[in-house]
Amino acid sequence: MNTGAPTMNTAGLATVRSVPALRKQLRRWRQDGDMLALVPTMGALHDGHLTLVRHARTLAERVCVSLFVNPTQFGPNEDLAVYPRDESGDAAKLAALGADLLFVPAVEEMYPPESLTRVTVPGLGDMLEGEYRPGFFTGVATVVCKLLLQALPDVAVFGEKDYQQLLVVRRMCADLCISTRIEGVSTVREADGLALSSRNAYLSAEERQVAPALYRTLSGVVAGLRDGADPIERAAWGEAELLRAGFDEVDYVAVRDAETFAPWPGPSRPGRVLAAARIGRTRLIDNVAVA
Ligand code: PAJ
Repeated sequence: MNTGAPTMNTAGLATVRSVPALRKQLRRWRQDGDMLALVPTMGALHDGHLTLVRHARTLAERVCVSLFVNPTQFGPNEDLAVYPRDESGDAAKLAALGADLLFVPAVEEMYPPESLTRVTVPGLGDMLEGEYRPGFFTGVATVVCKLLLQALPDVAVFGEKDYQQLLVVRRMCADLCISTRIEGVSTVREADGLALSSRNAYLSAEERQVAPALYRTLSGVVAGLRDGADPIERAAWGEAELLRAGFDEVDYVAVRDAETFAPWPGPSRPGRVLAAARIGRTRLIDNVAVA
């Protein structure tokens, strides 16, 4: 195991692959009085991820980005084996932004063969995405918990693109007394509204034409709610609209309280409209605030 000094990759970004090497580097910065921000990612970085890194730079003197395709958050029939990977391309993008450290652990570093413990967030982690991807949020909560305990950052930055994930991470930190502040960043979109996602690369040219209907439809649901529509009826309209626009299957369209994830009680509370739908073999998720 490499526990020594960080290595420089071709992009000139310091890279560590073991937890001891990570801690050694971070300890130095902490001793200098620097605040640390962590940006957890699975790599194949696009401008959504890079926006999190830019935001992290405004929050702390030092920014560490983790790159780990976390096997425990993929179901048996999901895309773990084909998930896009491009460490050197990612490192070049991060170096250009002025990130300070890249943490790229191997699977055995994060999950030694003897490890057993998992972190589960029942309720919040079982609905919507959790219902359609059983075990997904246990995988996410476990890996994020480990990353936070490994790096002990002052702040960690997550995208609103994965809104339920953001809430699960916030709940986990509150419940486990993890003092890292969790920052959410607005979703970065293509000009036609499609949320940037590593999985957009799976879309064929024709599917790519259909995909912006997801954001368009969620915005339409929000517009209806603003006009006083019933949330359940409006969600049903959204499902029909997605199918009409060319999506093959809709997992859910849901209108929830933006903080508790209970059904949205109405304008007295912040709301969030969330959806997951499939085009061909690609599953897309998105969400929009009820504002
Ligand atoms: P990944 O899908 O690589 O996303 C890393 C971070 O980038 C997440 O916080 C995600 O919400 C954010 N992100 C992705 N697309 C975005 C967009 N278009 N706009 C703004 N932010 C965006 O999410 C994960 O990895 C993993 O579950 C992880 C948290 C790393 C745990 O394994």
